[in-house]
Amino acid sequence: MRHVAIAGLTLAVAAAAIVLSGVISIKASSGHLPVTAWMLDLAKVRSVTMRARSIDAPALDDPALVRLGARHFDTSCRPCHGAPGSAPPLIPSRMTPHPPDLAAQVARWQPRELFYLVAHGVKFTGMPAWPAESRTDEVWAVVAFLRQLPSLDRAGYRRMAAALDADALESAAQCRRCHHAAASPLVPRLTGQSPDYVVASLDAYASGRRHSGIMQPVAALLDPAGRRRLAAVLSVDGERRDVARPPPTVTSPLITVGDPARDIPPCQECHGPGPRQRDARYPRLAGQPAAYLRLQLTLFADGRRGGSSYGGIMRAIARRLTPAQIDDAANAYAALERP
Ligand code: HEC
Ligand code: HEC
Ligand code: HEC
Repeated sequence: MRHVAIAGLTLAVAAAAIVLSGVISIKASSGHLPVTAWMLDLAKVRSVTMRARSIDAPALDDPALVRLGARHFDTSCRPCHGAPGSAPPLIPSRMTPHPPDLAAQVARWQPRELFYLVAHGVKFTGMPAWPAESRTDEVWAVVAFLRQLPSLDRAGYRRMAAALDADALESAAQCRRCHHAAASPLVPRLTGQSPDYVVASLDAYASGRRHSGIMQPVAALLDPAGRRRLAAVLSVDGERRDVARPPPTVTSPLITVGDPARDIPPCQECHGPGPRQRDARYPRLAGQPAAYLRLQLTLFADGRRGGSSYGGIMRAIARRLTPAQIDDAANAYAALERP
């Protein structure tokens, strides 16, 4: 017993001496020794395989999910990992370990393992965790896209990701890649939205009071003046309208009279439609995609949807809605014409 204790102590002292002497190289320029790289990779594979075992992957073939994942990838992952048909990004290629070309890596992993890697990141490597821990729904969009990545050439990737030629992160074109009407039913329309609400939402994302791994990094890059400028441009964006169609009318009593028995006020009071003057920080909901509205109401009800300082109003209301009422309100607002 005493011999073991002495041996242990000697080892610890030797390890401390080695670290303190400065002989261990921490420079990224020389890469890892093959044995270190092999050991770190083995640890990653074993850890991810084991911990992802209990994760159930949802259906990942929905083109809207794939497109949203592709567009986020182009904004937030391509700067490190590169994309089909372009040279690997120079500065990240000098990291140790460097971000690999993911098209070549995807086949190593099950979808649930890709989910685990993207949600949690990889310690000691520079691979970041998802910025909004509670938004696992968003991570699945990225996994849905990663599964398609190996089959894409340069043109196919650029189409799916709506990639821009110049890296114009602060231009409205960057926002329209995702917020255009046809882009994805998981993304809200900004056309016709109140500019004050758009600015308040961007402030909330940038400060972390509203959680989205997709929008927080985008909003944080804009300064307050840039947020106001983009809100003004995007809220009046011209989009083609179907003028022949008569404007549909509100079909849900929840919107016009609420549900007094459950203490739910009429949605219309704050969200329209109708001519009444409302607080400019209340969002307009007419013509938003049903899938987006349903998701936000569910997030509010679960306490996972932050927002501006007015967000508390909506959390209190959403908690009283039944799942059927959430569906009803989402479908009824989606059927209305965008203001
Ligand atoms: C700051 C740079 C950086 C960013 C941004 C980044 N990654 Fe990584 N990523 C890395 C590095 C470095 C590794 C290498 C880890 C290793 O070798 O173990 C990695 C590894 C991975 C892996 C595991 C690959 C494998 O086979 O081991 C996946 C999957 C991945 N990244 C996906 C993504 C996705 C999706 C995004 C965007 C949401 C992203 N990464 C953003 C740096 C980055
Ligand atoms: C990669 C796709 C993507 C890009 C690029 C993008 N957005 Fe978003 N945006 C989203 C998604 C997805 C949401 C919903 C996030 C959530 O659940 O909170 C969103 C939400 C928003 C909201 C909240 C709207 C509401 O109804 O609550 C605003 C405002 C916004 N984005 C503005 C912008 C601006 C401005 C830009 C450009 C600087 C931009 N977005 C770029 C995908 C994107
Ligand atoms: C007293 C005012 C008020 C009433 C009544 C109200 N809301 Fe809201 N709602 C808000 C506010 C304020 C926000 C924006 C919170 C934030 O993000 O800052 C909001 C946000 C929302 C959003 C998210 C919109 C987006 O673009 O992300 C949805 C969906 C929504 N409300 C649906 C409803 C429904 C359905 C009803 C009726 C059952 C309703 N609201 C009643 C004040 C109200």
